[in-house]
Amino acid sequence: MKIGGKHTRSIWTVGEDAFGIFDQTRLPHELVTLTLHSAEDAARVIRSMQTRGAPLIGAVGAYGLALSVREDASDDAINQAVEMLAETRPTAINLKWALWRMRGALLNQPHGKRVALAWAEAQKIADEDVAMNEAIGFNGLKIIETIAEQKSGETVNILTHCNAGWLATVDYGTALAPIYMAHDAGIALHVWVDETRPRNQGAALTAFELGNHGVNHTIIADNAGGHYMQDGQVDMVIVGTDRVTANGDVANKIGTYLKALAAKDNNVPFYVALPSSTIDWTLQSGRDIPIEERSPDEVLKMSGRLQDGSVVTVDIAAPGSRAANPGFDVTPARLVTGLITERGTCAATPEGLRGLFPKD
Ligand code: MRU
Repeated sequence: MKIGGKHTRSIWTVGEDAFGIFDQTRLPHELVTLTLHSAEDAARVIRSMQTRGAPLIGAVGAYGLALSVREDASDDAINQAVEMLAETRPTAINLKWALWRMRGALLNQPHGKRVALAWAEAQKIADEDVAMNEAIGFNGLKIIETIAEQKSGETVNILTHCNAGWLATVDYGTALAPIYMAHDAGIALHVWVDETRPRNQGAALTAFELGNHGVNHTIIADNAGGHYMQDGQVDMVIVGTDRVTANGDVANKIGTYLKALAAKDNNVPFYVALPSSTIDWTLQSGRDIPIEERSPDEVLKMSGRLQDGSVVTVDIAAPGSRAANPGFDVTPARLVTGLITERGTCAATPEGLRGLFPKD
């Protein structure tokens, strides 16, 4: 993505003993960078959601582990760091996928080589994420092109939920990659951006990204999408995902399931974009995906910028009310029109997934 006209990734190395990220809790009001020096730093920013999005926390976990190897390259220390980082967020499988891949690349290697090997593997994970998302972009672009042709060049309206863009990955995004490519190809586009309560990743992050790239968009309350679908103002939905099970069920940000139901009722195609690092082949059904329960404060409070520029957090509920806050829900495969991956688009079925990834 371009920040101030300059192509920038959402994670970068600082020498060979630190890495940088944007503090996503400060967006869209301020673009603040953080430099991380240890696995503990990485765990802290994942927990606090200063960094977030399934593929990006995988890359942050990988660099965090690489930094821990600098301090102690023993098998025990590697296993402990993997465990500590893996526990930070439970739903996105990309984090565990990256950590297990790092561990696999390090154990059984000579201790003296582990520091360099770990750094190189983390860089490989980040670079591969960029390549996978670029391919997802091209594959999703074909679907948008078909809709644009069917509409004889009229504006294609796409609805998205949460943030599955550049900020949620190393670059390009998953759900937003096809949107960026369609925009760059000159297709007339408009994106309905679900605000995505309670943390507002849509209003704060997706809208920020789309605005920076010059993509026409409108932020809507989470409850408005169904209305626009009934009104014929949504041509397709594209969302990202934190974990897809072997049968094609999809975990994504809370509220995604309701959008899929509304899309089904209105014959609006509902696509999910994902790199293969998001597929959990060990689970046969979305019912087995652990759903993160987050702090009630995210529901009971809201943050925003005052006119004087200061950012404040305010209570929005009566004192004493309780809140529940599941971070994700599961959209059953039967509601998904197609899974857009780096190898192409397939049906959300075991056969569809295995057709594209026979050996994984
Ligand atoms: O809790 P978050 O903000 O990390 O949740 C992110 C999402 O739900 C995204 O849609 C998902 O990670 C896909 S990322 C390309």
